[in-house]
Amino acid sequence: MKSIITYLESEETRKSIMHAIQQNLYLYQGINTEEKIQSLTGSLYNYLVMECVQVNQYVSLSKDTIDSLNILYRELVLHLRGLALENRTLQDDLEIIVQRHRAKLISALKHNSYNKNQDQLFIPCAEYSGSFQFHLLHLGDCLLKQPILDVGCGKKHQLLSYLEEKGFEELYGLDQYHSDEHRIFCGNWFDYHFLQSTWGSVIAHMSFSNHYRRSLINQDSDTVLYTMKYLEILDSLIVGGLFIYSPAVRTIEETLDRQRYSITYFPNLDDRNLDSVCIQRLC
Ligand SMILES: C[S@@+](CC[C@H](N)C(=O)[O-])C[C@H]1O[C@@H](n2cnc3c(N)ncnc32)[C@H](O)[C@@H]1O
Repeated sequence: MKSIITYLESEETRKSIMHAIQQNLYLYQGINTEEKIQSLTGSLYNYLVMECVQVNQYVSLSKDTIDSLNILYRELVLHLRGLALENRTLQDDLEIIVQRHRAKLISALKHNSYNKNQDQLFIPCAEYSGSFQFHLLHLGDCLLKQPILDVGCGKKHQLLSYLEEKGFEELYGLDQYHSDEHRIFCGNWFDYHFLQSTWGSVIAHMSFSNHYRRSLINQDSDTVLYTMKYLEILDSLIVGGLFIYSPAVRTIEETLDRQRYSITYFPNLDDRNLDSVCIQRLC
């Protein structure tokens, strides 16, 4: 989070934000319905999340932070729309609005309660095509059951679109990104309650288990939280339901009760660190 705050605080960022707003201010006149306000708020929020995860994919935003950021962007949209409608683009007014917005944004990010382990290794985030994920996770071999939840589905939730093309209908996603689609829940997996015996399949490609494994390797303070969430996810499967993810986390999989869960590994011959696993709830 430090690096994104440094980025937001820099003079260069301030100038480029000001420039972008000045160039596009007239467009705010057209933001004249609640739906458009919400949609633009969501897009601006998503842009920030994208910048955060591109700098460091382990950025983890709490529910409070997500709510605050959305309120701040909504406030910004309304202020800029007000300026655009008044048809006066006074530099000073704009400067004040942007400066206040940035200060509140930085403060919200600094107070994000899930920042504890953000100073570890920085790795940028990537999103993968639906077909790549489908094959890497061996979803064709797993006989997916519905409803399906993709945890950390990404901004474009490409796997869900791919599964939709293949005829699946009960598809849901969870990510820190906002989406206008109702089937995508915006939130942190630590804040999301995985209800017992609900999901036919839970899928997580390069998301939950990747963060979990990193937490175990670093022995950081999130390990217990991850273990509890992992078990909550398993509990949220219907009998016969599947939890399919990559990378595998052998230390936790080894502890599972084999009477209750069957475990199938799919080795990734290019990189054994990226083996996939399919866990089925048996009873
Ligand atoms: C490497 S991307 C993978 C996205 C997608 N599964 C794919 O393979 O294309 C990891 C995703 O997990 C999301 N993510 C990271 N931490 C999260 C958290 N604590 N709660 C919810 N989503 C999170 C990120 O926003 C990002 O979209």
